Amino acid sequence: MSGIQRTGGALTCDGVPLSDIAAREGTPLYVYSASTIISRYRAIDEAFASHPHSLHYALKANSTLAVARLLRSLGAGADANSGGEIDVALRAGFIPDQIVFTGVGKTAGELAQAIDLGVRTINAESEGELERIDALARARQTRARVALRLNPDIDAKSHPHISTGLKTNKFGIGLDHVRGICQRMAGRAGLEIVGLHMHIGSQITDLDPLARAASAIVRLARELGDDGIAIDHVDLGGGLGISYDGSPVPSAADYAAALLPVVRGSGLHLVLEPGRNIVAPAGVLLSRVVDIKEQPGGKLFVILDAGMTELIRPMLYGAFHRIEPVEAASGPETVCDVVGPLCESSDTLGKDRPMPRPGVGDLMAVLDAGAYGAVMASNYNRRPMPAEVLVQDGTARVIRRRQTIDDLLALEA
Ligand code: LLP
Repeated sequence: MSGIQRTGGALTCDGVPLSDIAAREGTPLYVYSASTIISRYRAIDEAFASHPHSLHYALKANSTLAVARLLRSLGAGADANSGGEIDVALRAGFIPDQIVFTGVGKTAGELAQAIDLGVRTINAESEGELERIDALARARQTRARVALRLNPDIDAKSHPHISTGLKTNKFGIGLDHVRGICQRMAGRAGLEIVGLHMHIGSQITDLDPLARAASAIVRLARELGDDGIAIDHVDLGGGLGISYDGSPVPSAADYAAALLPVVRGSGLHLVLEPGRNIVAPAGVLLSRVVDIKEQPGGKLFVILDAGMTELIRPMLYGAFHRIEPVEAASGPETVCDVVGPLCESSDTLGKDRPMPRPGVGDLMAVLDAGAYGAVMASNYNRRPMPAEVLVQDGTARVIRRRQTIDDLLALEA
């Protein structure tokens, strides 16, 4: 039995009952299925098998060490977005040549760290950043491998907060500027321009904008070749969405079918930076009902012990996550708002959800929470961060212990 599934009425993770794991480790709790991570990584890898490619897993989606190590063991590289994520990648066993470093505001310290390590590519965001990389590399008598992050001005048709490819977004370099910048930077002793990069958004379910952006980047690579600047790879970023509500979305094969015709024949190595698509469906957030409240003439609130501190996606993006009782419930359906315990009205995980009326103490699962869940957790209201469990080969193992108030206060005077 693999993945998060309902078996005999109860939700299980790779065959292990989620209620057993919650009973042992407490709630709120993240639980991940290793078999799901493995099969989803392989699905993308196999879909692109006919073209030279590397998958650099986007650590920002979920960078718990055991998850990063699992992906490394499958052959993934890493996409790091900060000095911290570079450190995590190294501790997870990635070698510098397996790490690409992206980020819209890299500090001098982070750039120096990446150059000293000799990461595979620094995806540069502006001409100013290229100048800074050149100066840092020359001071070290080395050359940094860079790719230019393009902003193709293409709407990814995702949520505005997670769209990055429009010229009104802070990311990347406008297409019209790239050739000029490359000409100015090509002779720099500290730079080796090896690639072009883009990432137009996340949770993309319409592949057409991605394919159009890919065409623009491949065209530009060819033009740079004509200018005498030999590009060896294009990095098309991440972004492939998943189905949060059960409606059909493109598969890994559809993704490859949209992108491969664009890069095939270009002679360019293809780099991808998938995050969400691999880990989101592999994770659930488990939480217990702490109170049920019926406001007079108003709503039925199901109050959980998890909220925006554990999973902020619904509050930040209006994101939909299915919320289900772990033990199948019967009885007439009622409509309720599933909310967290924080002192914020926006602390709502699910609005107007039909479900059999839960009881206090019931265990609930928030599905598809493996990406941008635990990594975006906070300590607001002095809430310790939840524990995380990875289920692999029938064994549920704590991969991050629950934070304690002592952990939190250890940093304070
Ligand atoms: N590469 C770059 C440069 C990125 O900025 C991102 C995500 C990725 C790769 C991975 O994208 P993915 O395959 O996961 O879509 N917190 C938001 C998502 C923010 C994504 C930011 N960049 C959410 O919870 O929906």
